[in-house]
Amino acid sequence: MNTLFARLCALAFAGTLGFGAAAHAADLKKGEDLVNKGGCMGCHGAGLAKPVAPTYPVIAGQPESYLFHALQQYQAKHQTPIYGRANAIMSGMIAADTTQDLHDIAAYVASLPTPLYAPDRTHSN
Ligand code: HEC
Repeated sequence: MNTLFARLCALAFAGTLGFGAAAHAADLKKGEDLVNKGGCMGCHGAGLAKPVAPTYPVIAGQPESYLFHALQQYQAKHQTPIYGRANAIMSGMIAADTTQDLHDIAAYVASLPTPLYAPDRTHSN
């Protein structure tokens, strides 16, 4: 009886793992399509690396988990003064996306070359 229970638990656990992996595997091509259809470069600029206004952030090449959580928060419109983000523009941009879409977008944007974090070569250490 105990053995059967242990096997059932193992099966249930493996099932959970399998589902989790499938749900979180990001699709770069899908992310690219969503970015192109969404017109993200209209504000974040060419390659999402040259914002059209100084108040718009460079998003190309930022860490995937950072991008994903930023998008998720805009979508959820977390508006407490302590946690989360509230931005009417960005909330509207991704309002219709699924969580998987946000993963795909984040993975694609993270894969782009970035002008951020470039080593400063103007002086030696
Ligand atoms: C109309 C202009 C505009 C468009 C189009 C736009 N964004 Fe944004 N985006 C902004 C602004 C402004 C911010 C900064 C908001 C804030 O202060 O939180 C921002 C912030 C972000 C951030 C957070 C960056 C960070 O460093 O925290 C991500 C990620 C992002 N946008 C992704 C996208 C994606 C993906 C699209 C296309 C689906 C898109 N944006 C389209 C204006 C835009």
